[in-house]
Amino acid sequence: MPAAGSGRRFGGELPKQYLKVADKPLIEHALRSLLAHPGIDGVVVALAADDPHWPGWASLCGKPVVTCTGGAERADSVLAALRSLPVDVANDALVLVHDAARPNLRGEDISHLIESASVCADGAILAAPVRDTLKRASGDVIAHTEPRTGLWRALTPQAFRRDLLLRALEAAIADQMIVTDEAMAIERLGLHPRLVEGREDNLKVTTPADLLLAEFLLSQGA
Ligand code: CTP
Ligand code: MG
Repeated sequence: MPAAGSGRRFGGELPKQYLKVADKPLIEHALRSLLAHPGIDGVVVALAADDPHWPGWASLCGKPVVTCTGGAERADSVLAALRSLPVDVANDALVLVHDAARPNLRGEDISHLIESASVCADGAILAAPVRDTLKRASGDVIAHTEPRTGLWRALTPQAFRRDLLLRALEAAIADQMIVTDEAMAIERLGLHPRLVEGREDNLKVTTPADLLLAEFLLSQGA
């Protein structure tokens, strides 16, 4: 779980993953949603250096929580977490990468993702089809409408074999490519992770408006 970001777009003093919704910090919702699933054995959380906000959990839901120090970019944080996996995690074990700022993940989506990633060597990600009409801008006017057929929004978790993800992230970083999700690093190797349609309410909190939506979803149990 990458949790080493500072939440620049959200703003404020407290990094967004520690903001409370429905009585718990976002990161606690994200961790519990993962660890409550029977297919998940434990989690490694990548934290900012000297993060004063981390509550210090060593276990949650009866499963181990390990921490490590993240890096400047998301890929650096995920790579640090992969390198901190316990030695008894097999090279071909499936690892799921999930944003700390995504608090509304459902068990059924985790199950679907694990099922797909288990049978697809290139891995799998949760994703949602694009619903809005897409405009290509030319300055501040519309140049044209982009067809949305076949376009998906990448969500998390994203699931890959441990050794494949390690290789892909090391290559992206060595090439100084900024990859904004793990699948993008895998795609750079010429591979094709599977799209698994997930719930659209698996939202990532990026701005204050998203926090209100998260509060609504989590307090309703909607
Ligand atoms: N993340 C990370 N290490 C980084 C950057 C991001 O671990 N160097 C984590 C964030 O903490 C978050 C997840 O990756 O859980 C998704 O990133 P994002 O929503 O972009 O969070 P921030 O990078 O913190 O926000 P912003 O881009 O607005 O600064
Ligand atoms: Mg970011």
